[in-house]
Amino acid sequence: MKVLATRRLPGPAWDELDDVEIGPVETRRDDVEALVAANETVDEAVLALLPSLRLVANFGVGYDRIEVAACRARGVAVTNTPGVLDAATADLAVALMLAARRRLVEGDRLVRSGGWTAPWSAGPFLGREMTGATLGIVGMGRIGSAVAQRARGFEMRVLGVRSREGNLDALLREADVVSLHVPLTAGTAGLISRERLALLRDGATLVNTARGGVVDEEALVDELLSGRISAGLDVFVDEPHVPERLLGLPNVVLTPHIASATVETRAAMTRIVVDNVLAAERGEPLPTPVP
Ligand code: 8YV
Repeated sequence: MKVLATRRLPGPAWDELDDVEIGPVETRRDDVEALVAANETVDEAVLALLPSLRLVANFGVGYDRIEVAACRARGVAVTNTPGVLDAATADLAVALMLAARRRLVEGDRLVRSGGWTAPWSAGPFLGREMTGATLGIVGMGRIGSAVAQRARGFEMRVLGVRSREGNLDALLREADVVSLHVPLTAGTAGLISRERLALLRDGATLVNTARGGVVDEEALVDELLSGRISAGLDVFVDEPHVPERLLGLPNVVLTPHIASATVETRAAMTRIVVDNVLAAERGEPLPTPVP
C-alpha cells in the first residue's frame, strides 16, 4: 500500500512500513492509498488530490482538522491514536498547573537573569497552593480521568463535567484550577467564552492541553492581561502562532503543543498508526477507527 506521510513518525514501528514517502500533499497523486497526517488539515481539497485514498491515519487522538464526513463520503476510513497518550497529557496538565501556580518559569527566568539578589528568597514571590485546591475538570473522558487520578495525590477536591452537562458554570465559579479535556467539535468551539472566563475566581488557573479553539482566545488574553487569573497553555487557536500580547506576561506558562511528546508515548502512537495502515493493507478491520 502506497503511503504518503506528512512527516516521519518517531519510534521503531515506523520501519515496518515498506512503501512510504514523506512530504506534503501538494499535487495530485493517483498512487497514494494511505495518508498519515499529524494533526494537519484533511479536507475536500486534500481528498481531491488523492483519488485512490482508502485511509487517513492520524497521529494523534484529536482529529478536529480532518473532515470525517467528507472522507466517509469518498469511502476513506479515518483512524486516530486513542488511549496511549492519556498519561503523558495528564502529566503535562499537572505540570502546567504547578508551573503556573508556583511561578516556576518566572522563577527560572529570575535566577538566570541574575535578578535573585537576596540570599534568603527571591522577594515575596508568592504562588498559589495546589494541595487542597479545588480542581475543575471539563471533559471527564480518558485524559480528564487521568488528571483526576493525579489530583488525588495533591489532596485536591475534584469537580468534573462532561462537555454537554449544564453545571459547567458552577464548576468555573468554584474551582481554583480548571483543566480542559474535551475534543474540539462544533459543540465545544468557544465553550470557555468571555462570559464564562469572567466566572473564574480571582487567582484561579486555567490549563489547556486540549485545543485552543475550546477557549475564546482573545478573551483569555484580556483576562490574563488584567492579572486576575493565571494559565498554562499548550494549545492555541492558530498554531504555531501564539498571541503576541501573551509573550511578555508573567502569569502564563506557554508550551508548544507537547502534551503527548514523550519518547514512550510518541512511539506508542506511531505503533497504532502503523497497525492501522497494515490492517488496511491486509483488508482487516482497522484497530482504531474514529467513532
Ligand atoms: C499531537 C494531539 O501532538 O493527540 C492529539 O490530539 O494533539 C497530539 O498528540 C498532534 O496530533 C500532532 O501530531
